[in-house]
Amino acid sequence: MGYTGHRPALDVVLEGLRRLEYRGYDSAGVAVLDGEGGLAVERKAGRLANLEARLDEVGRDTLTGGTGMGHTRWATHGAPIDRNSHPHRDTTGRIAVVHNGIIENFAQLRAELEADGVELASDTDSETAAHLVARVYDGDLAAAVRTVCRRLEGAFTLVVTHVDEPDKVVAARRSSPLVVGVGDGETFLASDVAAFIEHTRDAVELGQDQIVTITKDGYEVTDFHGEPVQAKPFQVNWDLSAAEKGGHDYFMLKEIEEQPEALANTLRGHFADGRIVLDEQRLADQDLRDVDKVFVVACGTAYHSGLVAKYAIEHWTRLPVECELASEFRYRDPVLDRDTLVVAISQSGETADTLEAVRHAREQKARVLAICNTNGAQIPRESDAVLYTHAGPEIGVAATKTFLAQIAANYLVGLALAQARGTKYPDEVAREFRELEAMPAAVQHALGTVDQVRALGRELSDSKAVLFLGRHVGFPVALEGALKLKELAYMHAEGFAAGELKHGPIALIEDQLPVVVVMPSPKGRAVLHSKLLSNISEIQARGARTIVIAEEGDDTVKPFADHLIEVPAVPTLLQPLVSSVPLQVLAAEIARSRGYDVDKPRNLAKSVTVE
Ligand code: M6R
Repeated sequence: MGYTGHRPALDVVLEGLRRLEYRGYDSAGVAVLDGEGGLAVERKAGRLANLEARLDEVGRDTLTGGTGMGHTRWATHGAPIDRNSHPHRDTTGRIAVVHNGIIENFAQLRAELEADGVELASDTDSETAAHLVARVYDGDLAAAVRTVCRRLEGAFTLVVTHVDEPDKVVAARRSSPLVVGVGDGETFLASDVAAFIEHTRDAVELGQDQIVTITKDGYEVTDFHGEPVQAKPFQVNWDLSAAEKGGHDYFMLKEIEEQPEALANTLRGHFADGRIVLDEQRLADQDLRDVDKVFVVACGTAYHSGLVAKYAIEHWTRLPVECELASEFRYRDPVLDRDTLVVAISQSGETADTLEAVRHAREQKARVLAICNTNGAQIPRESDAVLYTHAGPEIGVAATKTFLAQIAANYLVGLALAQARGTKYPDEVAREFRELEAMPAAVQHALGTVDQVRALGRELSDSKAVLFLGRHVGFPVALEGALKLKELAYMHAEGFAAGELKHGPIALIEDQLPVVVVMPSPKGRAVLHSKLLSNISEIQARGARTIVIAEEGDDTVKPFADHLIEVPAVPTLLQPLVSSVPLQVLAAEIARSRGYDVDKPRNLAKSVTVE
């Protein structure tokens, strides 16, 4: 974060870091310029609270001034210790830099600096930027940063200050996020708008390879060669309350409860005059008619939403759909051409693996449609079209409401394809949409299981491992349930296609091992239902403790369930929207019972902007 304006920079930056901490929490640091040649820096490994304790120790009045910067780190180069924390300074202590991303040619730059006699104080790639700026600085900080950026390879957001220009902060951006907040007599820089939403909703999007200089009166943007650039202003369409816990113990629980609203907002406005309307997308109907193959690329939870989408899109459009981990996609030379539609799903719109997959697809002339929750993020900017999920800010590192919103958005894409290609009659499309529209109420109903599931979570909190089983769309739900448990409760968890169990994983079953089974509806896909009952019998016979998520009124399942969690009956393809809810709550509660920070699990960060 960067700030210059009429308030004490330290207060503004610390408040901003509090709101940005979910993006990285290995260490935190601040720098403040006093305007009289002084630059004070404090940094501390660990959570922001450690930095605040350190500030109390040294006295906050040692960092006074109206210009400053701050950083919370997710470590890439160098362990999360004090000296690797940002901001970094040059050897004279007059320049301060914070950096996100990875400077890929840092080893060469570091060697060059060392050969010049510069002693580096940290193990990071980031520190090199401070020394490089110092070497070329000639009274114009923006010019120096531009010169340095032209030498840097990789992905970076840099924020830089110099004591000789105390009323300015200069920042640069390549493939890592950076937005400007425009206030009254104050200007902000941050990785996302949450950092300054308390002060202003007027923001400016920066593009690739751009440099911005902020002063209290405004901002100026150029490219890396100094050419002026017209940046795009936008209004943030949510307010501070959306980024606060609102009486909940942790953000994740609040976000789980916000799922009906997230779904409703994502669907709103997408059906008019009897047609699916994807108004934010720039692909013509003819483009959709020409599509002969769909790839869905994404990571983590977003990937699981893509796995769910595969079932629906293939069923509705009869197009082949492959869902692939973005980090694998471009390295295996996928067969792509201009009739391939690549759907890139990303909550943040910043995930480096997904961004690189998008770039690869576009180089191969495929058309890319992004599904994203962050206005103006890099992935939608580089895609041919975008469909936004309007889930609001998601602060908990574990994705919840954006998972459901992504499924809904994927379904809109599937229905739009079916409509354009004529594989569904208009009344069928309308019926599918109406069923989707009924989902916020169904998810609200599913939230009625929260207390029961929290109690179960407490009971299971000592387990060593938990397995998750599902078939058809229940399989990606099982994968997602296992991911949630791994990332939050640090517990061994695996999701399996239930039919695959007998081909190996059944050897894992032992007495009292909890196994969560995501049941399909007995009405929708009767054959799947009976096969899954057989799979449960097989694990029960080997001592498993079964936790069964099933449709309300499905009595046949009762003898198979040590714990039965009932969710409302909905059409088969929509079941993931209700059956995921108890799995999210289960993971959060097990994590809480084990004493872990539900919103900030260890080793993780909300946005993964490195490959
Ligand atoms: O921002 P993205 O949707 O691209 O993030 C992708 C994954 O990193 C993300 O879904 C991650 O798996 C979740 N935080 C897990 O809960």
